[in-house]
Amino acid sequence: MLSEKAWDEAASSWLDFVRSGKDFHRDGLNNPATFALIGNVRGRIVLDMACGEGYNTRMLARQSAEIIGIDFSERMIELAKKKEEEEKLGIRYYVMDATDLSKLPNSYFDLVTCFMSLQDIREYRKAISEAARVLKSRGRFVFSIPHPCFENIIARGKRINASRRYFGEAMYVLPWDMERLAKAFRTTTFHRTLTDYVDALHRSRLLVSRLVEPRPTREGLLKYPHLRRHVLTPQSIIVESVKSADES
Ligand SMILES: C[S@@+](CC[C@H](N)C(=O)[O-])C[C@H]1O[C@@H](n2cnc3c(N)ncnc32)[C@H](O)[C@@H]1O
Repeated sequence: MLSEKAWDEAASSWLDFVRSGKDFHRDGLNNPATFALIGNVRGRIVLDMACGEGYNTRMLARQSAEIIGIDFSERMIELAKKKEEEEKLGIRYYVMDATDLSKLPNSYFDLVTCFMSLQDIREYRKAISEAARVLKSRGRFVFSIPHPCFENIIARGKRINASRRYFGEAMYVLPWDMERLAKAFRTTTFHRTLTDYVDALHRSRLLVSRLVEPRPTREGLLKYPHLRRHVLTPQSIIVESVKSADES
């Protein structure tokens, strides 16, 4: 198990990957679908959980009334704050573990997002219950993860497709070693089933309202031909859930 320091050490390479347009899964596939699902957040109060250096936080901030980004990596938050100084969008960033948001009030946010990060959070059930706690009644928790049915995982030192070993949680060290990266890095991540995630949502009174398995758009394919394989097989899944009105 690598510590959170792994994300601190990855932060500069991650920033280059994300801000230079090399993260084509994000730009050509996942973000168009995610933001279409989220819809208009004008006037809404938003929390972006595990926000990294803040790329998607900034996209949300261009509309929302109030937005907070949190991440447990000090370096990621430092980079996010630096960008906020350069381009003021009114985002407040804090170093915080997603599993302990006790500095944030109950029932405050209209929307909590967690983009491609829940799979990296060891105690994902706690993070989900914290998201539920800080949401207003009928507020939404929207998260994306690599699709657990089709992602590549590392089992016994070998990279295999989850379709061959779906059941059971697996923790492994993921080598980020694509040529597109300025510098390779490694992080700890987890394979869990869709049932695991939906059970955790259910336990926190978050009821699944919509799922999206993003498919490349025509424009996305023209710009990023690598996305062709996702015409037939999803790379990620986006889950929208709503906090039950019974609990505020
Ligand atoms: C794959 S990156 C995604 C970052 C960002 N959401 C984005 O879309 O660019 C995963 C992020 O999760 C953060 N993270 C992992 N575990 C966390 C935890 N327990 N609490 C807060 N952040 C965490 C990492 O520091 C890293 O920034």
